[in-house]
Amino acid sequence: MIQTWLTRELGLEVPIIGAPMGGRAGGELAGQVSKAGGLGMLGAARYTDPEWVAKEAAVAREVGGGTFGIGLQTWSLAEDSSILDAAIAEKPTVIALSFGDPARYVDRVRAAGITTMSQINTIDDLVLAEQAGIELIVAQGGEAGGHTGRIGTLPLLQEVLESTDLPVLAAGGISTGRGLAAVIAAGGEGVLVGTILLASPETIGPDYARSKILEASSADTVYTPVFDQARHQPWPSRWFGRALVNDFTKKYDGTGAPVDEIVESYDPSDASVGVVYAGQAAGMVRGTHPAGEIVRSIAAQAETLLGRF
Ligand SMILES: Cc1cc2nc3c(=O)[nH]c(=O)nc-3n(C[C@H](O)[C@H](O)[C@H](O)COP(=O)(O)O)c2cc1C
Repeated sequence: MIQTWLTRELGLEVPIIGAPMGGRAGGELAGQVSKAGGLGMLGAARYTDPEWVAKEAAVAREVGGGTFGIGLQTWSLAEDSSILDAAIAEKPTVIALSFGDPARYVDRVRAAGITTMSQINTIDDLVLAEQAGIELIVAQGGEAGGHTGRIGTLPLLQEVLESTDLPVLAAGGISTGRGLAAVIAAGGEGVLVGTILLASPETIGPDYARSKILEASSADTVYTPVFDQARHQPWPSRWFGRALVNDFTKKYDGTGAPVDEIVESYDPSDASVGVVYAGQAAGMVRGTHPAGEIVRSIAAQAETLLGRF
């Protein structure tokens, strides 16, 4: 068994967190990751609501035995923080306040006895998270699926580990025990995995999201703002989303087309147009394996690899 700050502090069997993924990670996925000994997280995107959080938290709790987390998009709480209240009310093990300065929200979460985590993309983000009182840092590299920064996982992880005494996890491009072993050997406490879970039957979202990722190679992703424009999601401009290349990104990414045209042309029911957020680990998604199986196999392979030394 690999034991780290993460497993000891949160009572996990393996140092693996199932990433919060808006539109893809609901209660069933989160629950199965927790049941396998990791920590599964709900992805509570800006477009979800308190009812969704309550419903999916109940499923996660029932399937996973009580341990789960909820990931929020901090920048969007300024316009409406009811989703944060809903998340705190569920008393999850962890709440992630990612993408934005968490200072205004950390005290409320910690006062409820919930561990605070933040996915960060730069050293400036690390400083803000530390000042805010965040307890667990995730260095999220630009290889990651969904919204992310521009620095690669390995350079960011090393810089973050050299810059803080807080426990650090890595996210972005990690899909096997090789990645987990590398992070542990570097001094990290564990990993967040998202993309590798995206073909699992427990994910939510359109059917084509599961089939498209099975067809994709690691070269088939693009870092783009076009789906946010198309879907009226006012993300601050420093964060684009990494998604699979499709007809829509080929037509609009980097073209400077008017936003009205982008909005009008977007049809999420069309499998060649609808967004499939996914990272550069896409090529490693090779079957529709249950999430619990993936988590256990990542942990077992890392243990074998680390045992070589
Ligand atoms: C489909 C998808 C949706 C995501 N949505 C969110 C989200 O709502 N909140 C969040 O903090 N991170 C989100 N992320 C980022 C993940 O939490 C995590 O950083 C990422 O999946 C890790 O990299 P990987 O995809 O290479 O494993 C999303 C990622 C994916 C693939």
